[in-house]
Amino acid sequence: MTMEHSQIGKPVPRKEGREKVTGAARYVDDLTFPEMIHGVTVRSSLARGKILDVRFGDDIPWNEFTIVTARDIPGKNCIALLIEDQPCLADRFVNHPEEAILLLAHPDKYLLEEARRAVHIEIEPLPAVFSIEDSLARKQIIWGEDNIFKSYRVEKGDVASAWSGAEFIVEGEYETGAQEQLYIEPQGMIARANSFDGVTVWGSLQCPYYVHKALVSLFELPKEKVRVVQTETGGGFGGKEEYPSMIAAHAALLALKSGKPVKMIYDRAEDMAATTKRHPSRTRHRTAVRRDGKLLAMEIDFTLDGGAYETLSPVVLSRGTIHAAGPYDCPNVLIQSRVVATNAPPHGAFRGFGAPQSVFALERHLDRVAAAVGLSPEELRRRNFIREGQTLSVGQVVHEKVRMDKLLDRALELSGYHEKRARFAKENPRCVIRRGIGFAAFLHGAGFTGSGEEYLASEAQVTATCDGKVQVLAGSTEMGQGTNTVFAQIAAEALGLDCEQIEILQPDTSLVPNSGPTVASRTTMIVGKLVETAALVIKKSLHDTGFLKPAYTPGEFTDACREYTGKIGALQSLVKYQHPSDLHWDDGKYQGDAYGAYAWAVYVAEVSVDTRTAEVRVEDFVAVQEVGKVINPVLAAGQIEGGVAQGIGFALYENVVWQEGRMVNGQMTNYIMPTSMDVPSIRVFFEELPYARGPAGAKGIGELPPCPRRWTFRPSASSLKNFPTREVPRVPKASANSPWMEPRPRSRMPSHRPPAWTSARFR
Ligand code: MTE
Ligand code: MOS
Repeated sequence: MTMEHSQIGKPVPRKEGREKVTGAARYVDDLTFPEMIHGVTVRSSLARGKILDVRFGDDIPWNEFTIVTARDIPGKNCIALLIEDQPCLADRFVNHPEEAILLLAHPDKYLLEEARRAVHIEIEPLPAVFSIEDSLARKQIIWGEDNIFKSYRVEKGDVASAWSGAEFIVEGEYETGAQEQLYIEPQGMIARANSFDGVTVWGSLQCPYYVHKALVSLFELPKEKVRVVQTETGGGFGGKEEYPSMIAAHAALLALKSGKPVKMIYDRAEDMAATTKRHPSRTRHRTAVRRDGKLLAMEIDFTLDGGAYETLSPVVLSRGTIHAAGPYDCPNVLIQSRVVATNAPPHGAFRGFGAPQSVFALERHLDRVAAAVGLSPEELRRRNFIREGQTLSVGQVVHEKVRMDKLLDRALELSGYHEKRARFAKENPRCVIRRGIGFAAFLHGAGFTGSGEEYLASEAQVTATCDGKVQVLAGSTEMGQGTNTVFAQIAAEALGLDCEQIEILQPDTSLVPNSGPTVASRTTMIVGKLVETAALVIKKSLHDTGFLKPAYTPGEFTDACREYTGKIGALQSLVKYQHPSDLHWDDGKYQGDAYGAYAWAVYVAEVSVDTRTAEVRVEDFVAVQEVGKVINPVLAAGQIEGGVAQGIGFALYENVVWQEGRMVNGQMTNYIMPTSMDVPSIRVFFEELPYARGPAGAKGIGELPPCPRRWTFRPSASSLKNFPTREVPRVPKASANSPWMEPRPRSRMPSHRPPAWTSARFR
């Protein structure tokens, strides 16, 4: 893999960049169709209850409106995903606030808004459940028989046998709250539907074939009668993984009934209130450690709040579970996990997909373990980092040349960690603004978990036209992360061409094959490999037929394509994913090769705390990672910077405040996300160890960066005193003793009037 590359590893400009910056790119709200009308959703005001009556208020010309209820659904009233528990429109019962009950469409957007307010839905309240604890305690059974969507058990060695021989046992409990994806462009769809042509939707989405599947089932149509087209997408971050199926279904139902194209665009408030967020979590750790810091046993109990319907929660739980023991070697591990139902809008995919939650708990916990043993945080980790040939908690033998210690050394050196730690320790007692520096070590598996990729059996196609243009056809979407550019680089490299010669077709289920969803950081590594293979097949066809010499110019390539298509026919190659025969996964035991490859990382954050105001700022950030071959250094660094910013937001600023299952701070003025003023310069460094199975050696990186959040301060002498006992009392919740993690008003907000939500605890 010491090959010279002409396209790979180069900062090739973003394929769609020019259109985005000139405003030429067309997002769904930029599109109009003749006779198009608008649609809105009437939602539940209560968390749980029985729908008794729907009344239409006076002063609205209702006869001009298209009104859709559950009874208008031609097929099954559910959003087909993993199971079929979530209705498209609530029929007799509602299970969360903002659940869709009724749809309205009208040409006049403003009248439509008035009409939405004039629909009165009478709901008889039923007792509801709002927390993990109440759901686990079965205060009310609100889903299935026990409120549990899914549970897993991962077992390695024998944890029970390890406690008696341990010199230290450290326990802790950690919680994280929900987080809003805050993509720039809210959810939106346009639909056209009639009984002759079927259903077509255009919209902002990550997974065209998820939407396709949901519409096929909802309308009971043959697959070819449903068409899903992705429009330019202003970010997804997981938030456009499940929900687009819902809004597409709503728009299509209105379109079918009205006979007109219907556009539905959420404003920010509706988007925040009604769509998915990151799963709140609770993690409990019990860890047995030897005096020298060697981990002997890790018992981990991991619970997610799934909200009212299952959506993708089992899969999020799975990833969180598998990542819960981190990049460490431990002979005995027991992870038990579950995702429970509450009467909140369903929680869903968000960058990292469950891993940020469990990794956060682990990295905070390991600091307590280090303090208990009397080691520095870095030394404890160094003594336990996983190495090549050792096994992860799921029993996966690491075949990669993983060198976490090297990543740690580099990160600590680049950040001046040791020097700063010593300096801060000396200076802090005399300062009002105190400083701290801490790091987190973690891993992230790319691609679907276990046999997921085998099951998806993704396809991608490369076509060469008679004029030498090369087209990539894939269902993978561009949402800012760089799919188009990366695919162009991979195809261009394989064909010995320039990226300019490669065209990426807009995902449209009537044109492109099903490459699987654009999730799980899988696009470059999994689908990119299919693109690379397909491009190589094209080249081979041209060589084998003698139209192309071994060495050629772009002009000769064009000539060869012309000859081939003229004499033989269409020049195209469709490649299907083949699961490597040496990767095995046992779904029953939850053991085996969970991921083909992992990205490995150590991130260091320097923070300051104003002890008068509790204001925390991140002053410096160093991100060192090993991600295989970097295909595009600018886009890759952008992925890390953006992900770190989201991680900083999650750790320090963003706080969803819930009241009876409803987000009550659903505005950008009171849901505080970091702005560019709150984010330090993020210094990104890559180690490149090409992954043999990735395209040109690449692995996935998209979801790596939001995983680590562990802001540490040098433990005070008094807190250390509590630790060297054999049995350490259970550590209180992270919020209870971490004043720096309290939410705070943004510095430029008037400080005399704190926003209403500051009383809520940061979870
Ligand atoms: N980067 C941008 N700019 N916009 C996004 O929506 N989504 C993230 C990540 N990076 C996202 C992003 C998420 S949740 C995933 S799963 C990956 O990108 C998906 O893209 P990939 O498979 O190309 O990594
Ligand atoms: Mo990403 S959360 O897998 O869309």
